[in-house]
Amino acid sequence: MLENNHTIHLTLNGESRAFTVEPRETLLHVLRERAHLTGAKKGCDLGECDACTVIMDGRAVNSCCVFAIEADGSTVETIEGIGTADEPHPLQRAFIDAGAIQCGYCTPGMIMAAKALLDRDPHPTREEIHAAMSGNLCRCTGYTRSRRPSSRPPGSLNSTRTERGHSSDGAASFRHCQPRHAAS
Ligand code: FES
Ligand code: FES
Repeated sequence: MLENNHTIHLTLNGESRAFTVEPRETLLHVLRERAHLTGAKKGCDLGECDACTVIMDGRAVNSCCVFAIEADGSTVETIEGIGTADEPHPLQRAFIDAGAIQCGYCTPGMIMAAKALLDRDPHPTREEIHAAMSGNLCRCTGYTRSRRPSSRPPGSLNSTRTERGHSSDGAASFRHCQPRHAAS
């Protein structure tokens, strides 16, 4: 182990996990390359596309913008933690039903952004949905269909599989680190 490496501890999709990381290693890299959770995508690696969105301590974050050592002690939820192919999360099912998926590259980030919003506020306004998902870029479907699932009745989107985090932050502080949507 290199001298400057650190061991971090995460509660990752409900499990206690430890990773030895380099100082400049991102949370996204740890998730994809060490934990082999490849749902969060490396799109731009610059905080511009939100394909890497995960939920950290109840907030949607761009995992490419979070150093792994910053995440030490955090609870992290990825798309793999909310549903499976056989038992999809209601949001995943709603995206399918709405025709909001084509190539699917952006979809995990969109669903995690939507889930963070709905965990915090089960009754978001249309404007709040747009604000919460405004950074999630999609080359395939456009943006109308991907916003519809978040406006479905809250009871139809309740998760039975995962414990939910809560945050009192408003939509403006939604992103942990993102140049175009910096927290205020
Ligand atoms: S990979 Fe594009 S915002 Fe992280
Ligand atoms: S479905 Fe292809 S990038 Fe969004």
